Amino acid sequence: MTIRLQEFQRRRRELMEQMEPNSIAILAAAPERTRNRDVEHPYRQDSDFWYLSGFPEAEAVMVLLPGREHGEYVLFCRERDRAREIWNGYRAGPEGAVADYGADDAFPINDIDDILPGLVEGRERVYYDLGRDAAFDSRLMGWINTIRERVRTGAQPPGEFVALSHLLHDMRLFKSKAETELMRQAAQISAGAHVRAMQAVRPGMYEYQLEAEYLHEFMRHGARSPAYPSIVGGGANGCILHYIENSAPLKDGDLVLVDAGCELHNYASDITRTFPINGKFSGEQRALYELVLASQYAAIEATHTDNHWNVPHETVVRILTEGLVDLGLLAGNPDDLIEEQAYQRFFMHRTGHWLGLDVHDVGDYRIGGEWRQLEPGMTLTVEPGLYIAPDDDTVEERWRGIGIRIEDDVLVTKEGCDVLTRDVPKAIDDIEALMREARA
Ligand code: GLY
Ligand code: MN
Ligand code: MN
Repeated sequence: MTIRLQEFQRRRRELMEQMEPNSIAILAAAPERTRNRDVEHPYRQDSDFWYLSGFPEAEAVMVLLPGREHGEYVLFCRERDRAREIWNGYRAGPEGAVADYGADDAFPINDIDDILPGLVEGRERVYYDLGRDAAFDSRLMGWINTIRERVRTGAQPPGEFVALSHLLHDMRLFKSKAETELMRQAAQISAGAHVRAMQAVRPGMYEYQLEAEYLHEFMRHGARSPAYPSIVGGGANGCILHYIENSAPLKDGDLVLVDAGCELHNYASDITRTFPINGKFSGEQRALYELVLASQYAAIEATHTDNHWNVPHETVVRILTEGLVDLGLLAGNPDDLIEEQAYQRFFMHRTGHWLGLDVHDVGDYRIGGEWRQLEPGMTLTVEPGLYIAPDDDTVEERWRGIGIRIEDDVLVTKEGCDVLTRDVPKAIDDIEALMREARA
């Protein structure tokens, strides 16, 4: 299942209802990006643009004009072109934009300079996110200046620019039933990939070979891309938070940390598991892993509507700090150590982030200076970790070079929360049993 036309229409209506009278919203499709000569990066539509249109093509601009008699939703897009379509694939064209994507009115993108100033003229406010696409910002200013040049003939340029993201990103934060279902599917595919990797890993494999297991599993289930470059870090590489080289051999006795999740119909999943390359945790690995896992269970437990955004993080910080003291990795009183943020030497990132069309999804974390209350429909990650740098000579050598993160995707519900990624084991016994069976 994907998102239906009616849902895109409902989103546009909901946004337009919140816009001030006599305003206009303008959004540009993501630009195509060159990878290297004659080769482009695979195209991914801008998430805001996609959220409101479902239109997958580059070189498109959507315009929302609440109350416009000839239609409130105008889409500019590339014209059909037989020769170009033979080389680069199907285009909807303005006809398809109306027939298949629900635009009220559609025009060739090449005519935008002539048409757009006329649509903006007379509207007091423009909802637009300045600063995200410099090239488009400058074109938009050009159209506004065209109107300004005509004031003596009675033209009325807009007086105000308003950040569209204030309204739109709050809408995106609350997932609909259809979005939740897609995210659940994405989570299940990624969970299956982590299971496959736990079964497949062997000492001597290269990190990229383990990465291939993920990509294979994502794609064969219809998720054509990871939601972000996969992180596959064996041993001390697990301590590099955004390690994506994935080029080293995996060693007997080390852990491997894998942060990998697929994107399905533009919705992200984001899972991390850390497991022993030879199938069995060592004493130190086990001690640190149990600590991270205990903090993760407690943070998931704390993810419910009675709590604000930061409670799961505060829960993790307390459990990790107390545990690090117990293990002798920190010395002092836990309250003081938390106050001094001493844990940051070993846990230097946040416990989670919103998840949706973007892996680090949009939505405010604070409102009016206060942490935001959790509400049903919000989707987030819970991902505590501990990373003992290989060269940290303030700790005993046996701990050094161990990096652990455990990350799940969670939907806030009325009753508490639903762990979308529950199909991949994380308890030590379950991981070891799964790996043992795969080796039998
Ligand atoms: N994979 C990015 C993150 O966990 O935030
Ligand atoms: Mn992640
Ligand atoms: Mn994450």
